Amino acid sequence: MQDQDFPSQDDWAIETLAVRAGTARSGFGEHAEAMFLTSSYVFGSAAEAADRFSNKVEGNVYSRFTNPTVTMFEQRLAALEGAEAALATASGMSAILTCCMGVLKAGDHVVASTGLFGSTVQLFNNILSKFGITTSYVSPADPAAWRAAVRPETKLFYVETPSNPMMELADIPALASVAKDAGALLVVDNCFCTPALQQPLKLGADVVIHSATKYIDGQGRVLGGAIVGSKAFIKDQMLPFLRTAGPTLSPFNAWVLLKGLETLAIRMERQSENALAVARWLEAQPQVKRVIYPGLESHPQHELAKRQQKTGGAVLSFELRGETPEQQRTNAWRVIDNTRLVSITANLGDTRTTITHPATTTHGRVAPEVRAAAGITEGMIRLAVGLESPEDLCRDLARGMTD
Ligand SMILES: Cc1ncc(COP(=O)(O)O)c(C=O)c1O
Repeated sequence: MQDQDFPSQDDWAIETLAVRAGTARSGFGEHAEAMFLTSSYVFGSAAEAADRFSNKVEGNVYSRFTNPTVTMFEQRLAALEGAEAALATASGMSAILTCCMGVLKAGDHVVASTGLFGSTVQLFNNILSKFGITTSYVSPADPAAWRAAVRPETKLFYVETPSNPMMELADIPALASVAKDAGALLVVDNCFCTPALQQPLKLGADVVIHSATKYIDGQGRVLGGAIVGSKAFIKDQMLPFLRTAGPTLSPFNAWVLLKGLETLAIRMERQSENALAVARWLEAQPQVKRVIYPGLESHPQHELAKRQQKTGGAVLSFELRGETPEQQRTNAWRVIDNTRLVSITANLGDTRTTITHPATTTHGRVAPEVRAAAGITEGMIRLAVGLESPEDLCRDLARGMTD
């Protein structure tokens, strides 16, 4: 293998990095990245095997630890985030688990944002809690609340921005400053924006988490995840857990994700444009009570979104009117059930638009009073806008919008 088939330079644009960074060619000189489907690697001698196992000499040993195709994906993603290193994992959830297992111990405390992805909340509340790790939840939009939640044993700040499905933003530089004062690590789940729209490490975060299943794949094919940060953090705190516990990304999935990264920036740009067009159309519909999209002037954090993100992103939520919660649900379900184009599925980040009713699907397991406090009403619909024509999408949504 060549080390890197891409001349390293500090100022390559993200579009260039997306198609070039991380590429390492084998002796065959292939142009496209090779898929290395091998579980182990052959050594020239017993001494070489011993040196590789003891880390005296760098190199692949076993694909639970490292694999050349996975390494290419890690290096390309790290380049896009403006980071020193990345570690790929089997899914977004295993990236979050690896991060927590590598950083936390019994007795530690986490401050996390409200409105996190449901499985992340389950991980903090039902699994990490069994090992003596406690979590407090505060609004992503209120840095003072984060400061107030800090305890002497606080080790980690965990935030998703924008949040799902309420599209609330956290001011990353403001949270980074609170985290620094607290001596805690600021971890940002950058799943909704991806590095094409937001680079949290450049804004002061310590670690970025990805569900690569979403926009990085971009076409709804494979699961994957990643942790992005400094070389020392990845090597000393993340890799030991991954190589021992094994939530490793398969080389096949890494190859699919490498190809996904190549088109990430243009997909994010076009899907954001489409989302803005659909959001503006929704705002004009009498049946719609409100549209929540950071790219709209009506979003309470629109100015922050303009500062921190390149666009408003491709996900929006909107609420149907209705006198009672039952009526709101009937109206929301009518819109969903009358679509013929968009897919009724809880996934997001696909080139095909997806539609979800959060109150009865992604957030169905959340207690009704918690859901209500978070603003997730029965009339709310989440739309992850894809690459279809926005006019076609609006026609599809209009079908179920009767009074
Ligand atoms: C914001 C966010 N983080 C993490 C995850 C978990 O990712 P995965 O499904 O790849 O485990 C998801 C999945 O939907 C998500 O939306």
